Amino acid sequence: MSTAPKSDKDRVIIFDTTLRDGEQCPGATMTFEEKLNIAAMLDGMGVDVIEAGFPIASDGDFEAVNEIAKRTQNAVVCGLSRAGAKDIDRCAEAIRPARRGRIHTFLSTSPVHMKYKLQMEAQQVFELVVSSVTRARNHTDDVEWSSEDGTRTEFDFLCRCVEAAIKAGATTINIPDTVGYAVPEEYFDLFKRVRETVPNSDKAVFSVHCHNDLGMAVANSMAGIRAGARQIECTINGIGERAGNAALEEVVMAMRVRNDKLPFWNKIDTTQLTHASKVVSAATSFPVQYNKAIVGRNAFAHESGIHQDGMLKNAQTYEIMLPETVGVKQTSLVMGKHSGRHAFIHKLEEMGHKLSGNQLEDAFVRFKALADRKKHIYDEDLEALIDEGMVHAHDRIKLVSLSVIAGTRGPQRATMKLDVDGETRIEETEGNGPVDAVFNCIKSLVPHEAKLELYQVHAVTEGTDAQAEVSVRLSQDGRSMTARAADPDTLVASAKAYLGALNKLVMKRQRDVAQQSAAAVAAS
Ligand code: KIV
Ligand code: ZN
Repeated sequence: MSTAPKSDKDRVIIFDTTLRDGEQCPGATMTFEEKLNIAAMLDGMGVDVIEAGFPIASDGDFEAVNEIAKRTQNAVVCGLSRAGAKDIDRCAEAIRPARRGRIHTFLSTSPVHMKYKLQMEAQQVFELVVSSVTRARNHTDDVEWSSEDGTRTEFDFLCRCVEAAIKAGATTINIPDTVGYAVPEEYFDLFKRVRETVPNSDKAVFSVHCHNDLGMAVANSMAGIRAGARQIECTINGIGERAGNAALEEVVMAMRVRNDKLPFWNKIDTTQLTHASKVVSAATSFPVQYNKAIVGRNAFAHESGIHQDGMLKNAQTYEIMLPETVGVKQTSLVMGKHSGRHAFIHKLEEMGHKLSGNQLEDAFVRFKALADRKKHIYDEDLEALIDEGMVHAHDRIKLVSLSVIAGTRGPQRATMKLDVDGETRIEETEGNGPVDAVFNCIKSLVPHEAKLELYQVHAVTEGTDAQAEVSVRLSQDGRSMTARAADPDTLVASAKAYLGALNKLVMKRQRDVAQQSAAAVAAS
C-alpha cells in the first residue's frame, strides 16, 4: 500500500447517496430513526456530502432531510430535486437548517429521455437547465446539477447544458451513467472531452455517478476520476436502483490500496467500513453477499489448504490489505454467561459501539438472556444483538412469549403472547407448518392487510447452536418494509422479524397521519 503525499488537487469528495439512491430501490425503505442513525454514522466516518433524500417525494422524505440537516456536524447535507420550481423550493426548505447545505437538481438530457420521459424538445430542456440552476442558486451557494442519462446524451448538447449550468451558478457538475451502460474507457473519454471542451469547466467540480447494471460501476467511477472528476457518488454496500450504485467501500479501498495507480485520496476512516456495511444491511435488511468485495463475510476468509498454508507463512501471500484496515476483527470467542457488565462494555467499545443509559441496560439484559441459551457468544452475535436493539427500540408491538408445536404430525400450532401498546394479547393458532402457524398467530392478534413478500433465514455463525437471522418483508398500500431479527430459535427470530416489519409499517402510517393532521390544522 503506497502512501503518496496528499495534495488538494488529488482529493476526492465522497458523496454518499445511501439515503437517496439507495433508499429508492425496492424493499430498502428505512424508517425515520434508521435514516438519522445512518446519517450520523456517515458523518462520523468522514463522508463529505450526505445526500439525505428527495424532499418533494413525500412528507417523510422532507422530515428526514430536514432533521439530518439540523443534526449533521461536519458533512454537507444535500437534497435532490427535479427541475421544477416547487421541487427546488421544497428542497431548499428541507436543507435550510444545515451548517452547509446543497441543492442537487437534475434533468434528463439524452434523446430517449427527452422524447419519451420528458416529452420536451432539446431547446426547452436547455432553458429549464438554466432556470432550475438559477432558482436553486438563489437559495444556496452550493448547487449541483446532473444531466440524467448523461452517458447516452449527444456530446455537443451535453457540453452546451454543462456550460449553461455552470454559468447559472452550479458549483458541481455530475454526469451520471444512469443506466449502467458505459465502459471505463468511454467514461474516461467523456469526462476528458467535456472538461476540455466546456470553456468554463474549471469553475466547477466534476462528479461521477455510476450504476452497476454491467458490474462496472466502480471501474467507471475510477475512470472518471482519472479523467479529472473529483467527486464520487456512491452508496454503502452498493445499494441503489436496479443493480445498485458504485459501492463506497470499494471506491475508497481501491484508492487506498492501489494508490500507486490511482493516486487520489479521501477523508474516509476506513476502519468504520465493516460496521457501516452492517448497519445499512440491518436497516434495509438487504443481506451482504458473502463474496462482496471489502465487506463480505468471505472477503478475508481463506478456506483452501494451499491458501491457508501461504497465509500462515506470510499474510501477504493472499491478502492485499489488512482486515483491520476495514474494521474486520478476527472472529473470537468473546463471552459467555459468566461475563460481567465490565467485560460486556469493554467488548462493545472494542467493536465500536458506545452505548449508555437505557440502551446499555437493555443490551446487557438481552446479552444475559442470550448467554443463558447459547454457550459461545461471538462478535457476530453481539453485532446482531446491538442492531436489533437500535432498530426495535420504538416498537409498539412486542413479543412476550411464544411456544410452537411442530413435527411430522400436523397441523402445527403456535401460542403467542404480545404486548401491544402496553396491552397483553394471547392467541393460539394452527398453520401449514410452524412458521405459518406463528405468522397466523400475529395476524390474529394484530389484524392487518400487509402481504408477506420475503421470508429468508441464515445462520449468524457456525454450529448447531448458531443464532438464526431471519429477514421479513411486508407490503401494504404500495409501501414495503423489511426487518431482521436473530435468535437461537428460528421460530422466535421469525416472529420477531415479522413483528419488526409490522412495527415499521404501523409507525410509518402513524407518522403519515400525524403529518396530514398537522397540514390540515395549518391550512385551516
Ligand atoms: O442515476 C441517476 O441519474 C441519478 C440522478 C438523479 C443523479 O440518480
Ligand atoms: Zn442514480
